[in-house]
Formats: sequence, structure tokens, C-alpha cells
Amino acid sequence: MTKRVAILGMGRWGLTWKGVLDAIPGVEVVGTDHLDTGDRRPDYADVIVGTDLDAVIITLPVGLHLAAITDAVERRIPVLCEKPLVSSRAELQDLVSLASGTDVVVRVDQNYRARGWVGATRAAIRELGAVRHVRIVFAQPEFTDGGRGELTHPLLNDMAIHHMDLLRHLTDSEAAVLGAWAARPEPTSYSGRTDLDAVLRLSQGALVSYSGTWAARGATTPWDGDWEIICDGGTVHVTKLQVFVERSTGVLEPCNVAPDEGLHTDLAAVWAEFASALDGDANAGVSVADNARSLSLVLDLEDLALNNWPGSPGTGRDEQK
Ligand SMILES: NC(=O)c1ccc[n+]([C@@H]2O[C@H](COP(=O)([O-])OP(=O)(O)OC[C@H]3O[C@@H](n4cnc5c(N)ncnc54)[C@H](O)[C@@H]3O)[C@@H](O)[C@H]2O)c1
Repeated sequence: MTKRVAILGMGRWGLTWKGVLDAIPGVEVVGTDHLDTGDRRPDYADVIVGTDLDAVIITLPVGLHLAAITDAVERRIPVLCEKPLVSSRAELQDLVSLASGTDVVVRVDQNYRARGWVGATRAAIRELGAVRHVRIVFAQPEFTDGGRGELTHPLLNDMAIHHMDLLRHLTDSEAAVLGAWAARPEPTSYSGRTDLDAVLRLSQGALVSYSGTWAARGATTPWDGDWEIICDGGTVHVTKLQVFVERSTGVLEPCNVAPDEGLHTDLAAVWAEFASALDGDANAGVSVADNARSLSLVLDLEDLALNNWPGSPGTGRDEQK
């Protein structure tokens, strides 16, 4: 049966989702832009109230996620919401309560989990045994679109949720933040800080170093980051989305990475999981409770890197937490 899906927020990522869903048989997409009369910006609430829907995908700015999820759940419309789910602990608590108290499906898009290199890396780690140490490096040039130029720390506020969620997903472990430091090397066109160095510990004891900049000069990594995962039986290297296992020093064995069959194969996979959840599979997709553990790591990083450092002007978000 055809599923009627509204995309709430037709910006850069909403349009990307529309392209993905338009190519999937059995999905009919309604965008907020179809209400555009030219005299005012179409409001997501008009779509939720006025349309017969099987699900909504929320690609609104993060500040509207909680309100839009709440509106949809109150009308018993299942939700797939973009990362980052929310931006404060208070909102996260409200959302966890909302999701645990309803049978309406609410899932989070952590699409990087569905990428080819991630499957290959998980398989390699399982083969190599216990994780001993993890190093994550992220470097991308400045990107001020979509309000990112005004964020307190674009890496923490926007991208870090992907890396913290991948850390838990790849290692099948929970983590805790031990320390985090932020910096703002000049010049930068961001109003916030660009750089981060942090240390975490996995539940089984392994240390994790997470080092990133969203104001790269010269060398860059993919959005996913480059990874080094040292296990009992050898090291997994993820470099430019290619995966290698080093069992003996200096001998790099390439791993098979499932090829992306087109642009945004990962989003199509996330949709397939979400569709399974809509059809009754309670374990399909990333739940709010699961995602809350990844997002809590990001909020802990923010606290340590931006609020608790001597002389720090803070995030300005303390009131919300
Ligand atoms: N999973 C990923 O890899 C990935 C990649 C990019 C963006 N995202 C996420 O997608 C979300 C949107 O990001 P973006 O880059 O597309 O931002 P964007 O600013 O380009 O898009 C947001 C859109 O929402 C619209 N909007 C704002 N208020 C509205 C309202 N009340 N009713 C209807 N529409 C409204 C804006 O006009 C804009 O078109 C964010 O949560 C972002 O983190 C995820």
C-alpha cells in the first residue's frame, strides 16, 4: 500500500530526502513547499493538520524538532526526525518521556550507520577481538550555510552527533566523556569555535581520542572522519572511507566495502528500516532512547569544552539545560 509521507522543512536536506523518496516505489511525498502561496512561508503545522499522512520526515532547523515531533505524535503520525534530535538536555528529557509514553513510531535518522564502510568496519572489529583504543579525526573546511556560521561550535552543535553515534554503533559499547577542549584559531568566518580535542572512555575501558576542526586548512577528512580502531588482534584503519586491517605491522589488507549504488544510498536504507518500523518491527531503526545515549555524549562534550573551561564565555545555552 502506498505510504503518504510529508517532509517538514524543504531546505537543503529536505530536498535531498525528497529526491530519495521520489525514487522509492510505494511512497508518495508531500512537501511543505506545496502550500507556498507566495505571501507567507508555508508552516509545517499546516501540513500536519491538513493532510492525511502515514508518516512525516522532519528536516526542520533543530530548534523546531521537539515541537514538530510533539505535534505529529499528538496526531498519531509516525515520525522520522533528522539529527541532531534536539539541542539541550531539557528538550532531550521531554522527548525521551514523549517517545517512551506512546506507541506512535518515532525514529531518528543516523544515516552514517547505513554506509558501506561502517558495515565493513563492524565486521573487521568483530574478527579482531576486544577494542583497546580508538582515534577519530575530523577536518572539513568552513561551511556557514543553514545558520552554521552563527553556531557556538558548529562541529559540536551539528556534526559530532554522527561521530558519537558511530562510536557506539561501531564498538557496540557505551562511552563516557573524560575531557574536552575547544579552540578558535583566527581567522574564521564562524562566530563560534571551530576546533575540538576530547578524550572519552568506552565501557570496557578503551580510551578514545576525538580531534576535529570545521575550519580545516589543507588536509581534510570525509564528513564521516578518519578512524583508527586498535583491537587485540590488529588495527582497523578507515581512511577516506576505505577500510584496511593491519594484523602485522605495515601490512594493510583492504576490506570489502559495499559500494554505494547511487547518491544517498544510506538515506534509502534508513527509509527501508523506518518502513519496517511502520510495519510493526519494534527493533527497526534508531529509537529515541538509543539516540539519547549518543546525544548525551555530545551534550557532555559541549559542557566540558564550552562551559566548564576556566575563562570560557560559555555556550549561552546553560539556561536551557
Ligand atoms: N543526516 C545528515 O547527514 C544531514 C545532512 C544535512 C542536514 N541534516 C539535518 O537536517 C536538518 C535541516 O538541515 P538543512 O541543512 O536542510 O537546513 P536548512 O536551513 O537548509 O533547511 C531548513 C528548512 O526548514 C524551513 N522552515 C523553517 N521553519 C519552518 C516552519 N515553521 N515550517 C516549515 N518549514 C520551515 C526553512 O525555510 C528551511 O527551508 C537539520 O536537523 C540538519 O542537521 C542532516
